[in-house]
Amino acid sequence: MILDRQNPISMADITQALVGIADSIPELDTPENEEEILKFGLDFEALMQAYRGAMQEISTKLEILDDEYQTRYSHNPIHHMERRMKSITSIAGKLAKHDLPLSIESIENNVFDVAGIRVMCNYVDDVYAIASQLSRQSDIAILEVKDYIKHPKGSGYRSLHVIYSVPVFLTTGAKDIPVEVQFRTISMDYWASLEHRLRYKSNNDPQRIAMHAATLHNAAKELYEIDLQLQQVHRDLVSAPHKDSL
Ligand code: GTP
Ligand code: MG
Repeated sequence: MILDRQNPISMADITQALVGIADSIPELDTPENEEEILKFGLDFEALMQAYRGAMQEISTKLEILDDEYQTRYSHNPIHHMERRMKSITSIAGKLAKHDLPLSIESIENNVFDVAGIRVMCNYVDDVYAIASQLSRQSDIAILEVKDYIKHPKGSGYRSLHVIYSVPVFLTTGAKDIPVEVQFRTISMDYWASLEHRLRYKSNNDPQRIAMHAATLHNAAKELYEIDLQLQQVHRDLVSAPHKDSL
């Protein structure tokens, strides 16, 4: 099952967002006059279409792998997936954070999570099995791996992040496009979703978050221990192949 968290974009949305961005981040170098805005809007729309294509390519590959596991081992490693395209406002925010201009070239060279897929797996073994099977496919390349399962973040956050580059065949030829894939177990996702919302609800007030940081960190650790226990039961009862790293 794939859940699409996609913001539909039209030229009107892009133009409106650009005006909003220019007002809220005046220091960001954005297209200024009507002609520039129109040109950027059209190029941005085309770029997003290519990123959507890349996201579809990778999610289809993941669905095929999940299907094959079901056929071969009567086990679905993937519980469900979520896909989203980063909004123009978030892209602009990320570029502004790094003092970079809002241009097509700047997005292509600096923002690697425009297209994002979250793969929720049943067991930790499934995370590494699916990630390594996908990574081995000859038509895609790995640009970056961050293993926050082996090396959790200070918050307690766990997931395996991989940025893939996939060719998308357009009328103008093939274009390599990056897609960020976050592989995690359903329990890691449960923790990350709640922690993200709690952080957001505290208005990102560091002092209020700090008051509960140890509890959240400990909860992540305990959930991981449960993940490993259930994993062991699954290993004992079901003999699907497993790997411990990517
Ligand atoms: P970005 O500029 O956001 O890409 O930062 P980064 O490259 O240093 O971080 P990375 O790409 O490794 O991870 C960013 C993403 O991981 C976020 O958008 C979240 O989805 C997720 N993430 C990272 N840390 C946490 C965390 O502490 N809590 C939660 N809930 N999610 C996190
Ligand atoms: Mg990142």
